[in-house]
This record gives sequence, structure tokens and C-alpha cells, in this order.
Amino acid sequence: MFKITNKERLAKDITKIVVEAPLIAKKAKAGQFVVVINDDKGERIPLTMADWDRQRGIITLILQDVGFTTHKLAAREIGNCIAHILGPLGHATEIKKLGQVICIGGGVGIAEILPVAGAFKQAGNDVVSIIGARNKELLILEEEMRAVCNELYITTDDGSYGRKGFVTELLKEILDGKTDKRANRQTHLIYAVGPIVMMRAVSDLTRPFRIKTIVSLNTIMVDATGMCGSCRCSVGDQAKFACVDGPDFDGHLVNFQELGKRVNQFKAQEQIIRDTL
Ligand SMILES: Cc1cc2nc3c(=O)[nH]c(=O)nc-3n(C[C@H](O)[C@H](O)[C@H](O)COP(=O)(O)OP(=O)(O)OC[C@H]3O[C@@H](n4cnc5c(N)ncnc54)[C@H](O)[C@@H]3O)c2cc1C
Ligand code: FES
Repeated sequence: MFKITNKERLAKDITKIVVEAPLIAKKAKAGQFVVVINDDKGERIPLTMADWDRQRGIITLILQDVGFTTHKLAAREIGNCIAHILGPLGHATEIKKLGQVICIGGGVGIAEILPVAGAFKQAGNDVVSIIGARNKELLILEEEMRAVCNELYITTDDGSYGRKGFVTELLKEILDGKTDKRANRQTHLIYAVGPIVMMRAVSDLTRPFRIKTIVSLNTIMVDATGMCGSCRCSVGDQAKFACVDGPDFDGHLVNFQELGKRVNQFKAQEQIIRDTL
């Protein structure tokens, strides 16, 4: 059993929970995830570790209430216990000193880029981040991101905070050298996490610039050990399992169209269970 030691509502439908998990915290690395089973009748869902503290033996999960299990988890209170947490799972993000790294997070994807941006900064990179949300109320972790980046840009779709528009519009300005502070600086790596449509748009944008672009794929996962095949995705001409081969992949090689279809394949069943809430 994994005790919830802290809980905070970060935005509408986005909740942070801190859980006692000393063995997982001891081995956690940026980019890795855990599989969470809320109670003994619960399904398995993957969640990225947004933070961890090895000394205190805790991990932080940030989840968006999108359906049955995330809703149940967000309703848990401090002192409650989560039945099972498995991890750390997946390959850690490859962190190296490269130069300028741009980290891009959309929606709850901001929680997933936070530890990665921090790790790139710690490795001596010049870290620029762009975070975006539909509106100001949905934007999370601004201060936490500011603390781990050399520069932070914010966009909202409706212009209620930061720059109006999508993260890709700001990214294009940076890559075109139109942002004063970033003019004439070479970008060595782009790391993007967010909705599939966003990761695809970022990858399409960076392809002609020939800048290596890594995306963290949010495929459907069940066992997360490479056995069930539910997280299969196509990367270049190869079939990959996001749970054991990823979740990070080269965005220029990911078949986003297939990915979009596969994550939506259980919509009807998800709606039936959601209606019971
Ligand atoms: C490696 C990885 C890391 C993730 N990290 C986070 C995170 O840090 N925070 C966060 O809020 N979400 C994260 N997700 C997505 C999260 O797992 C899903 O939102 C969650 O499983 C939805 O379950 P549900 O029962 O609440 O909703 P449902 O109604 O069952 O599903 C809603 C949507 O979530 C997706 N989904 C459903 N079941 C799964 C599953 N077993 N595995 C993956 N996706 C599923 C589908 O796209 C589905 O349409 C991550 C996914 C992956 C693969
Ligand atoms: S989740 Fe089953 S193979 Fe990846």
C-alpha cells in the first residue's frame, strides 16, 4: 500500500498527489513513469513521475481527470492508500550536455517536462521552455518551471495569459531567430510532451530545421512490461512498444496518425464506465 502524504489541486481537473514510495523514489529518473492501481478492483494506468525525493521516500504524480480511474485517484485524500504502484518504468530520458535545449509542454504535459527540463539544466544546458494551456486557469507549474529553466515562455490558446496562440507559434519564432534573446543561437534538441496533435505539430515544425526532436508517447498501456502489445506504435519502419522501448521516441519518425487512432480505440467502453461515476 502506498500512502498519500499530500494533495493539491493545481487547476480545474488537474491534481497533484504525493505518495510514499521509497523504493521507487530511490531509483527514479527524469522521463520515467509508474503504473498505478488505485484499489484492488482497479485498472492499471501509467503516470509520469513529476518529482521525487529520495531522502523522504516520496514521489509526486500530477494527473488530469479525464476518465474513470483518474477521477477516482483525484478523489483520494491525504492519508488514503493507493493499492499498487509499479516502477520506475520505461527508459529515462537521455540527458547530456548539448547546448541549447528547448522543452515544450502542453496541458498536463507540463508536469512531464518539469523533471526533464531540470535534468537538462543540471547537466549544464541552456534550457528554454515553452508551456501552453487552453487558458490561464489551466496553466500549471509556472513557478516550478521558471526555477529550472534559463528562460520560460507561456502561451494560452485564448490569450488570457502569456502569449495568445499555440506553443508551436512561439517555437517557430525562436527557430526563425525572431526572439531577441535567442537570435543566432543554435538549438541542439527539442523535447515535447503534450496532446498528440501538439507533439505532431512540433515534430512537423522542427523537421525542416533538422533539429532532433524527442516526444514522450502517451499510448494506451496495460501491463507495461512489453507483453500485452497495447502500447504498440510505429517509429520509422519499426514496431515499438512504448512501455519498454520508450516512452521517448524520435518525433520525426513517429506515425502520429496511427497513434491517434490507437489511443481512441476504446472510447465507447471508456464512456460506459465514465457514465457510472
Ligand atoms: C507513459 C505515460 C505517462 C503518462 N503520464 C501521465 C501523467 O503524468 N498525468 C496524466 O494525467 N496522464 C498521464 N498519462 C495518461 C494517463 O495514463 C491516462 O489519462 C489515463 O490512463 C486515463 O485513464 P482513465 O480511466 O481516467 O480514463 P479513460 O476514460 O479510461 O481514458 C481516457 C483517455 O486516456 C487514455 N487512456 C485510457 N486508458 C489508458 C491506459 N491504460 N494507458 C494510457 N492511456 C490510457 C486514452 O487516450 C483514453 O481515451 C500517461 C500515459 C502514458 C502512456
Ligand atoms: S503496455 Fe503492454 S506491451 Fe506495453
